[in-house]
Amino acid sequence: MVQFNLVALTLLVLLSWWSFGFEGAVGDPQLFLLKWECSVVAVDDLFNFNQNLNASLADLRVQVSNQSKQFVTVQSTSGADPCYTMFQCRNYLSNTDCATCFAAAAAKIRSCSTGNGAHVVYDGCILRYENNEFFDQIPTTISNTICGNQTADESTSFGAVGQQVLMDLQIATPKISGYFAATKTQVAGGAIYAIAQCAETLTQDTCSDCLSIAQSGIQDCLPNTDGRGVNPPVCFMRYSETPFFADNQTIDISPFLKQGGGGSIKNWVFIGGGVGGALLVVILISLVRWHRRSQSPKRVPRSTMMGATELKGPTKYKYTDLKAATKNFSEKNKVGEGGFGTVYKGTMNNGKVVAVKKLKSGNSSKIDDEFETEVTLISNVHHRNLLRLLGCCSKGQERILVYEYMANASLDKFLFGKRKGSLNWKQCYDIILGTARGLTYLHEEFHVSIIHRDIKSSNILLDEQLQPKISDFGLAKLLPGDQSHLRTRVAGTMGYTAPEYVLHGQLSAKVDIYSYGIVVLEIISGQKSTDMKAVDDDGDEDYLLRRAWKLYERGMLLELVDQSLDPNNYDAEEVKKVIGIALLCTQASAAMRPAMSEVVVLLSSNDLLEHMRPLMPIFI
Ligand SMILES: *[C@@H]1O[C@H](CO)[C@@H](O)[C@H](O)[C@H]1NC(C)=O
Ligand SMILES: *[C@@H]1O[C@H](CO)[C@@H](O)[C@H](O)[C@H]1NC(C)=O
Ligand SMILES: *[C@@H]1O[C@H](CO)[C@@H](O)[C@H](O)[C@H]1NC(C)=O
Ligand SMILES: *[C@@H]1O[C@H](CO)[C@@H](O)[C@H](O)[C@H]1NC(C)=O
Repeated sequence: MVQFNLVALTLLVLLSWWSFGFEGAVGDPQLFLLKWECSVVAVDDLFNFNQNLNASLADLRVQVSNQSKQFVTVQSTSGADPCYTMFQCRNYLSNTDCATCFAAAAAKIRSCSTGNGAHVVYDGCILRYENNEFFDQIPTTISNTICGNQTADESTSFGAVGQQVLMDLQIATPKISGYFAATKTQVAGGAIYAIAQCAETLTQDTCSDCLSIAQSGIQDCLPNTDGRGVNPPVCFMRYSETPFFADNQTIDISPFLKQGGGGSIKNWVFIGGGVGGALLVVILISLVRWHRRSQSPKRVPRSTMMGATELKGPTKYKYTDLKAATKNFSEKNKVGEGGFGTVYKGTMNNGKVVAVKKLKSGNSSKIDDEFETEVTLISNVHHRNLLRLLGCCSKGQERILVYEYMANASLDKFLFGKRKGSLNWKQCYDIILGTARGLTYLHEEFHVSIIHRDIKSSNILLDEQLQPKISDFGLAKLLPGDQSHLRTRVAGTMGYTAPEYVLHGQLSAKVDIYSYGIVVLEIISGQKSTDMKAVDDDGDEDYLLRRAWKLYERGMLLELVDQSLDPNNYDAEEVKKVIGIALLCTQASAAMRPAMSEVVVLLSSNDLLEHMRPLMPIFI
C-alpha cells in the first residue's frame, strides 16, 4: 500500500514536472493576429444579444481554462437574439497557452460587439460568434492567404516538397479524428513544418472542401518560407521553414493517404456544378474517371514522396568536351533557337550524337541556386514521350543542358515547314496520343507535378518512328528574371496560352491542357494557331480556335481537316472525336477542361465523348 502510494506520488511528480517542462519549453500562445473582422449588420435587440454573448464567453472560458478543452462550441439562446460561439486552439498548444490565446481573443472580439457576429484568428487559436448557428457551415470559396516575404534558400526543392506536403495534409486531415495533423518534412537545407486543422463540427466532406480551398491559396506562397491560409469559420493551414510546434507533435499521416484521390472528384463536380448547363459534361467526365478507375489497377499515391536526396544527380559534362562536340558551338551545328536558348547538334568523343542546349544566361543569381535542383529533377523524369535530359554543364555564367538527339526535329516542321503533308492520319493520331501520355506523366504520375507552361508544336520532337517526345519541360523555372512569385511572370507563347494565364497569371496544369488542345487543332488543320484562314468557302477569315469553333457550331467539323490528309486514310468519326476533345481542352473555364489522364481515356474510347458538349472558349 505504501509502496503503491510512493509509486503514484513519483508518477504524479514526474507527470507534473513533465507537463510543466513542456509548457516551459514552448510557452508561446502564438498571438500573431491573422484576421479580425466585425460584422456591421445590426441585431434587433443588442442588449439581449450581448447578454447571450457574455454568457457564452464566460462558459467558454471555464471550458478552456478549467477543463482544458481545445475545441468548444457554446450556444446561449435566451431571448430573441441567440448567440453561437466557437473556439478552437491549435492542438500543439499547451493548456496554459491555449487559455492565454483565448483570453486575448475574447478581449479582442469584445471591442466590436455592436454587430451580429465577429471572428478573430491568431496563429494559436480562433474565436467566433454569430447570431446564427454556423457550426457546420459550408466554407466560403475565398480563403485568406498570408504569405511570408522571404524566399526559401533552396527555393526549387522547397517549392516542390512544399506542394506535396500541403496536398498530403489536405487529403489526410479530414480522415483523422479531431481533424488535425502536423508534419515535419525534410527538405534540402532544413525542414518544412506544416499543419492543417478543421473545426470538429464539420463533416469529413466539408473539412476536405475547406482545406482544398485553403490549400489552393496557400500553395501560391511557395517557395516563400512561410504561408498561412485561413477560412475563418472552419479551417486553417500553415507551413513554415521555422518550427512553430515541437517535433514530437507531428503525426504520421501516411496511413491516411493510402486510398488517395477520392476528394478530387468531389471538388471537380463541386466547381463544375456551379456552371449551369455544363453539368452533363461534368457527369460524363466523372464517368470517365470511374471508367478509368475500374479499368486500371489502383494507382500508387504520389504522396510516397522521394526525398530530394534519393534523386539521382545529373551527369556533369566537361565544357571542353561539349565545345569540341559542337565544333565550338558553330553556326553550322545550330539546329534550333527557342525561348530558353540555342540548340546545337553535338557528336561526342565516343560517337554518340546529342543535342546541346545553351541556356540564355541571366544576370540573376537565382539561376545558380535553382539550376542544380531543377536539373536534378528533370534528369530523373523518364517517359517514352518525354525528351531525356542526359546531363548538364556549368561554366562561369554559362549553363548548358545535354539532351538525347532527335533526328526528325520538331512537329511544327511537319505541320507548317519543309515536311508539310508527309504525315498520315495514323501518325498524326499517334502523336496526339503520345503527347497526351507524356503530359499525363508530368502532371499526374511523376512524384512532383510539373507544369510545362509552354506546350507548342515546336516543343514536340519526333523520334525515328515519328513518336512524339515533349521537350523543354521543367525549364520555365530556369528562365532568368524574378521567379519568386509565379504570378509575376507569364511564360508561354502567343496563340497557345490559356486565357486565365494571360489575363490573371493563374497557373495550373489546365494551362498545359489548353495549349495541348491548340496543338491538336494545329495537327488536324495544318493551320498555325496565329494564322488567319477562311472559315468556309464564302466566310470571313479567322484564327484557328475561332475557326474550329465556328465550324463546330455549323456542324461542319470535317472542313477543318488539312487538305493534305487523304480522306481515304482516316475515319471521319474518329477525326471528329479528336477535334471534339481539342475543343473540350480549350474551353474558357479551366475547371471544365478534362485532366490529361482523362484526355488519354477519351482518345482511346469510342462512345464516351458522344454526349459531351464543349462550352465556348474565350477568344483573345
Ligand atoms: C516534446 O518535446 C518537448 C521539447 O521540445 C519536451 O519537453 C516534451 O517532454 C516532449 N513530449 C513528449 C510527449 O515527448
Ligand atoms: C457584457 O460584458 C461586457 C464586458 O465585460 C460589459 O461591458 C457589458 O456591459 C456586458 N453586457 C451585458 C448586456 O451584460
Ligand atoms: C476556474 O478556475 C479559476 C481559477 O483557477 C477559479 O477561480 C474558478 O472558480 C474556476 N471555475 C470553475 C467553474 O471551476
Ligand atoms: C518582411 O516582413 C517582416 C514582418 O512581417 C518585416 O519586418 C520586414 O521588413 C519584411 N521584409 C521585407 C523585405 O519586406
